[in-house]
Amino acid sequence: MLEIKNLNYYVTENGKQKVILNDINLTFEDNKVYVITGHNGSGKSTLLKIIMGIVRQNSGQIFFDGKDISELDITKRGQSGICYAFQQPVTFKGLKVKDLLDIATGEENNLSEMCDVLSKVGLCAKDYINRALDDKLSGGELKRIELAVTLARKGKLNMFDEPEAGIDLWSFDNLTSLFENLKGATNIIVSHQKRILEIADEIILLSDGKVVLQGEKKKVLPKLSDNACGRLREVSHG
Ligand SMILES: Nc1ncnc2c1ncn2[C@@H]1O[C@H](COP(=O)(O)OP(=O)(O)OP(=O)(O)O)[C@@H](O)[C@H]1O
Ligand SMILES: [Mg+2]
Repeated sequence: MLEIKNLNYYVTENGKQKVILNDINLTFEDNKVYVITGHNGSGKSTLLKIIMGIVRQNSGQIFFDGKDISELDITKRGQSGICYAFQQPVTFKGLKVKDLLDIATGEENNLSEMCDVLSKVGLCAKDYINRALDDKLSGGELKRIELAVTLARKGKLNMFDEPEAGIDLWSFDNLTSLFENLKGATNIIVSHQKRILEIADEIILLSDGKVVLQGEKKKVLPKLSDNACGRLREVSHG
């Protein structure tokens, strides 16, 4: 279980304090799917980065499996089973897809393991394992590789930041069924897509750095309107 208590994050810009996350209190139970939504700039990515330890909160605490991880660095949080797939995946000069999968799992993966994880994100292993992680990969390919690496890690807490970004609509069904089948872990997905919201157990709505709605999908989803959510988009089922 992940618990966030009284979490605040602000930065100073031109001598003025800018509040980015304002007194966040959230509990994420094991084996549930949580979708965080909210308008651009509402603080979703920052919240995930703080949970991962990439950005440090100004105050408040984070407990994971009962342990206070508020001051732990990224590596220690990673070792405790927390994984984060970036909104904008990073490239790694000189590394191949295969190397990144090996780093993610901490051991050399065989072809069938790599095939398993890459096929889940719609990539054929033999075409990709020796591809360099550089800007020759398309945005969608990079996003899929980032997803595959996160899946390969088999974390206890997986966080996906707008996993649908750059994924073509033809593959959307595969993406949603991928999340539906992620069992045995807590999954936090940041998304603006209605079809991703529909696979949530619970939905959290952030607005201007505050949690303004949270709870079971069936209670929260009807309250989300285009107005409330900023830019909830329908994706055609066709
Ligand atoms: N280090 C920083 N300095 C100044 N402003 C920052 C900093 N980090 C984040 N912000 C601001 O905090 C706000 C929240 O950013 P964040 O990336 O968390 O938003 P988001 O909800 O993920 O938005 P999007 O839907 O566009 O991805 C934005 O206004 C952003 O510009
Ligand atoms: Mg974001």
